[in-house]
Amino acid sequence: MKILGINGWIERGHDGGAALLEDGKLKFAIEEERLIGIRHAYDRIPYESIRMICEKEKISIEDINIIAIGWDYPNLWKMFGAKFISKKEMSKVILGTEKYADKIMYVEHHIAHACSAFYPSGFEKALVLVIDGQGEYIATSVFLGDKKKNKLTKLYETSISLGYFYAAVTEHIGFFSGQEGKTMGLASYGKPVYAKQLRKLISAEDNGVIKCAFSVAKKGKDEEEETIAIWRNLLEDIIPSREGKIEEITSDIIPYANLAASAQKVLEEILIKIVEYNCKKYNVQNVAIAGGVGLNCAASGILSELTCVDKIFTQPAANDGGISLGAAIAAATQKNEKVDFEMIPYQGNEFNEEEVLQFLRDGNYNYHKAENFPKEIAQLISEGKIVAVFQGRLEFGPRALGNRSILADPRSAEMLLKLNTLKGREVWRPLAPAILFEHQTEYFSSNQFSPYMTINSRVIEEVRNNLGAVTHVDGTARIQSVSKRYNPSFHLIIEEFYKITGVPVVINTSFNVKGEPIVATPKEAMDSAMAMNLDYLAMENYIIKLHNN
Ligand SMILES: [Fe+2]
Repeated sequence: MKILGINGWIERGHDGGAALLEDGKLKFAIEEERLIGIRHAYDRIPYESIRMICEKEKISIEDINIIAIGWDYPNLWKMFGAKFISKKEMSKVILGTEKYADKIMYVEHHIAHACSAFYPSGFEKALVLVIDGQGEYIATSVFLGDKKKNKLTKLYETSISLGYFYAAVTEHIGFFSGQEGKTMGLASYGKPVYAKQLRKLISAEDNGVIKCAFSVAKKGKDEEEETIAIWRNLLEDIIPSREGKIEEITSDIIPYANLAASAQKVLEEILIKIVEYNCKKYNVQNVAIAGGVGLNCAASGILSELTCVDKIFTQPAANDGGISLGAAIAAATQKNEKVDFEMIPYQGNEFNEEEVLQFLRDGNYNYHKAENFPKEIAQLISEGKIVAVFQGRLEFGPRALGNRSILADPRSAEMLLKLNTLKGREVWRPLAPAILFEHQTEYFSSNQFSPYMTINSRVIEEVRNNLGAVTHVDGTARIQSVSKRYNPSFHLIIEEFYKITGVPVVINTSFNVKGEPIVATPKEAMDSAMAMNLDYLAMENYIIKLHNN
């Protein structure tokens, strides 16, 4: 059975995309933003993602059995009294004809998130957490996943939104909506001095039930604006809001770092209570996570260290980017199809060597074919050069994981400054390390396989002077475990770097210009690498020198 999962609509839509599941296996998954060049692809139907899947998999909509949409639109529209769109109309808007109406299946948003987390996790049984801004109405839900029964059972749900709480704090600090990662990074510079005040507003009881000082009337439409406005008012009583960028961590910024640290602490406490109570009650040791808040790697790191938790799996596209995949999985399980695949995150489009060569010839660039591609890249990095790598299939999810990545030497803190400056990032923000998994415990406290860069781990004290560029101010790092199995070519690059330097780690930061999505084509790769004034671009066995210094 071929199931096409999709996400993205003309309103209230973000991070849309499409995924193809065939006989329970993932064949292709892509996010619309990469194809249209607009980050988060707000309010877009994923036309380009659908087109690409059909083209690359050589299929048409005729060949697809189910088109699974990761929102329960009929229910949603009914809730806010909007004109109901029939499946025929839906088919017409998305696919240009009414004739595929019978193939359409709607999946509740949190069910889609939960399926995207549990089924590819490899766990037989797991507690499944879905934490985002808001689904149709629900914002936090907890499930018990059972592979044998091919089933997810809902244990708890609430409209109290941890996503909007964290978003409000983010905006209060002066960042924009969607920049929650900056709040998390800033938290490490502060102390949770406002945690007590925040706990009075939002907390969890010992049984994992979340309590909030206010509630927002269920209107069915997006409650984001109203909820965040209420939060902002409440936060104003704790600390006045600020505006503008944070270029440096100066004394006037510390109170806001304290606010970030307090919000982070309260968020973690709530998640800990949910996980501890339910893991014990249902006798499960593994936790699968999705929803935008699932990308909070500091919180995932804390959860992974709980004694009741054995393993954590965070869907690499934990945000709504993964909804297309989750909707397809939900549809498959509803049809009693067994979903069985490993969540290798390289599921997008690729360009072969000939296509890259053609592009380079046309552009008259200063390139050569590498005799040993990984070795040459490693050599350049070890000499202090910054190399953008474009190889294999595009990553699914917001993290670049070695196929559309900028790589550099992690040993000196100077590289953090240099790379953040070139990328137009604030100098205080951390960069992430990619490490050969077989060496992970020599450098980091966590032995968890973290191939999607979704878990923070402590950098072992004795090796911190070897990892100056990737050790955050609080001594942690957002690690990517690199294995031969998931990404052999990236593994080879780090292996070569290890041979030269004795350090099995490189800096891995996403290959994109500030404010743009991660690059998806050789042309975007070239334009972006030049715009950032990087030293080299390495594409499918070709090395391109970008300037003469
Ligand atoms: Fe969501």
